[in-house]
Amino acid sequence: MPNNKKLSSLLSRYQRLIQISLDLASKLDLDILLMEIVRAAADIADAEEASILLYDPIKEELYFQVATNIDSTLVRGMVVPLHNSIAGWIARKREPIIIDNPQEDERHFRHVDNTTKMTSRSILGVPLVTKDKMIGVLEAINKKEGDFTPEDQEVLMALGAQAAVAIENSRLFQQSDLIGEFVHEIRTPLSSLNAATHLLEHPRASQDQKEKMMGVLNTEIERLAEMSTSFLDLSRLESGRSQFKIEKFDMGELLRGCYDLIEKEALEKSLTVFVDIPQDLPLVRGDRAKLKQALLNLLNNAIKYNKEGGQITLRAAVSLEEKDFLVEISDTGVGIEKKHLTLIFEKFYRVPEHSDKVEGTGLGLSVVKQIITGHRGRISVESEVGKGTTFTIHLPLL
Ligand SMILES: Nc1ncnc2c1ncn2[C@@H]1O[C@H](COP(=O)(O)OP(=O)(O)OP(=O)(O)O)[C@@H](O)[C@H]1O
Ligand SMILES: [Mg+2]
Repeated sequence: MPNNKKLSSLLSRYQRLIQISLDLASKLDLDILLMEIVRAAADIADAEEASILLYDPIKEELYFQVATNIDSTLVRGMVVPLHNSIAGWIARKREPIIIDNPQEDERHFRHVDNTTKMTSRSILGVPLVTKDKMIGVLEAINKKEGDFTPEDQEVLMALGAQAAVAIENSRLFQQSDLIGEFVHEIRTPLSSLNAATHLLEHPRASQDQKEKMMGVLNTEIERLAEMSTSFLDLSRLESGRSQFKIEKFDMGELLRGCYDLIEKEALEKSLTVFVDIPQDLPLVRGDRAKLKQALLNLLNNAIKYNKEGGQITLRAAVSLEEKDFLVEISDTGVGIEKKHLTLIFEKFYRVPEHSDKVEGTGLGLSVVKQIITGHRGRISVESEVGKGTTFTIHLPLL
């Protein structure tokens, strides 16, 4: 390529990069931001696809977060070793790399190709670093024509630098957002407490009214206490400060233990609980206490949002094709309208029709989701209004 043509191509790529960087700076939702970054990376490096691996400083490992083209549920959360992988090399050396034939490179971590059924022909990877802090690795995979060039590396490095700052900003924003949300949410119970104490002090309040106000005080105080505990759990989980104590354990036994804990409450509501747990289940690797908390949150919902005389089914199984351990919790309760289904996992979200009838903080499912995704699993929900709801937990079998 003549020199001036080369220069104008580089300039136009930098122009695109500036546009992308401006876009990135305005994105504060981490998932959306990461997706934009990989799309931009594939585009700017003329690659078939791109992916981001994030660095977990506590576990000292990299894990896949997003990728273009391929079904990200396949790779999301997949751990890539710091040693014996190209991404790991980039993260340790904090240097970019171009590899023309990864299949022949001894560092190539084949597990990813095997899972996605794709073959990496060429890789251009850059570290995501901001203020000396390792954030992760950005990889462009399979150059559309020819090989990756030093020019590709230069623009991807520039994109990586912008991306790292944007990721860090979005994380900081999420933290301050969390505090704001909490303060917002405790306002309602606080103002009820305030009103109730004023009424209690009122000289002409009748004994009957006073007792009623005491009742309000008690429930609101309880709600505040519950909210603070769940909120603390959640913020620890979200920021990755909550350590997972991973062990191998018998999930069947844990499920039966959960059943024992909820049996009494279910009986009081005339609910029948069915337990379907096969004998020969494999052991699960995970944090037993946290998974127990997740299951209890789901079972509590199955009781709370059920109908008098309804049913709850607790089922465990192994899906052979997906190599997943499944736990299903279904109820024959009030159900959830479709439009709320994606929102119920959000912090503080409660279906409006339920919130005036049943007590709750709207944090239970957010905690569940954090625990399950922390195990590199996922949770799905199906529901029909008036008929009932089924939550399914998928945990990867190792
Ligand atoms: N099994 C279910 N059947 C019907 N609706 C449900 C069910 N589980 C959850 N929901 C809906 O999803 C919302 C969010 O659930 P979540 O468990 O996060 O909060 P919560 O139950 O309201 O409060 P808590 O923090 O005490 O658990 C609920 O308010 C309810 O509207
Ligand atoms: Mg709940």
